[in-house]
Amino acid sequence: MKRIRIFDTTLRDGEQAPGASLHPEQKIVIARQLAQLGVDVIEPGFPISSPGDFTAVQQISREVHGVEICGFARAVKEDIDSAIRATQDAERRRLHMFLSSSNIHLDFQLKKSREQVIQIARSMVAHAKQYVDRIEFSPMDATRTGDEFLFEMIEAVIEEGATIINIPDTVGYALPEEYGAMFTRVMKGVRGSGQVEFSAHCHNDLGLAVANSLAAIRAGVTQVEVTVNGVGERAGNCSLEELVMAIETRKEALGAETGIRPEHIYSVSQKVSRSMSFPIAFNKPIVGRNAFQHEAGIHQDGLLKNRNTYEIMDPEKLGVPRSMIILGKHSGRHAIKHRVSQFGVQLNEEQMESLYVKFKELADRDKVVHDAQLLELVGHTVNVV
Ligand code: KIV
Ligand code: ZN
Repeated sequence: MKRIRIFDTTLRDGEQAPGASLHPEQKIVIARQLAQLGVDVIEPGFPISSPGDFTAVQQISREVHGVEICGFARAVKEDIDSAIRATQDAERRRLHMFLSSSNIHLDFQLKKSREQVIQIARSMVAHAKQYVDRIEFSPMDATRTGDEFLFEMIEAVIEEGATIINIPDTVGYALPEEYGAMFTRVMKGVRGSGQVEFSAHCHNDLGLAVANSLAAIRAGVTQVEVTVNGVGERAGNCSLEELVMAIETRKEALGAETGIRPEHIYSVSQKVSRSMSFPIAFNKPIVGRNAFQHEAGIHQDGLLKNRNTYEIMDPEKLGVPRSMIILGKHSGRHAIKHRVSQFGVQLNEEQMESLYVKFKELADRDKVVHDAQLLELVGHTVNVV
């Protein structure tokens, strides 16, 4: 099994989601939970961006143990120096530097030639290398950059001492087979690629962030960058819980595993959602309210006989509370009978039929029938019959 390192950027890229910013104290609490969850790397913020972010990165570096801490920086001396200072007390640390590589970014944002950009990349990696050994370099907007320039940039930063090459799909544009093939070409064609680690970083603009990250794993990357609940700019980043559970559930097919402890997934997800005031969609895989709820009568019947009939993961292993069978208008007699029996009520056939009719009327009106309502109906039924 290939061990995939989970790089969590909830507190940096995730926090870039509109309205999701966090105070340093909130970041520290989340960073502790991420370490407990078993992520390999935490990117806690962008130290140059504000005094609060600097403090958060510095305190997390000092107080959160057993995980590598990553300082984030543009390919600019002040950014790099600030990230180096903020992370200097970490047990293990790295610097993550990024610089755009696509024509559209060079022409309109940086307003620099390719030669100038290569020169900046070289000199900034060399500058950082004096202070930090582990340097991650990201050519921003890589998936809209032609191979020739992408290879040139990656070769240049490897020569200067970069040790991890992260190739981001910054605008969520790539298709899975394209993204995987790009890594295959880079690993084969870039001089020095054998001496570095490769990393995937995907955005979800087309809903492909998890699929693209899995394609990158198949192509040979050993690190994937993710955020809890998939929070991040626009449609967000590759979701930690979705990627990890895809790997965990399809381990054999992928030949890969992570060091994540799934039993903490739900509590971290809830913590991030509440701290960022960022609600989780009901149908969000793994952590959404409906992810393990079953309303259709046929499904409920199957589940009561064997949970594997309609569930591919055990929610309890993710820390998700049980009792997720929702009773509503699609529920059948079997599920209703089972639920009332959980309260110690045994109904004869006639009572069950009477309850069933009343239940359906209520479900048509209220959509979901809660346990208290069900028990009230049982009370009427038993009295009436
Ligand atoms: O999406 C992106 O390109 C990033 C990097 C700068 C890694 O977040
Ligand atoms: Zn990003």
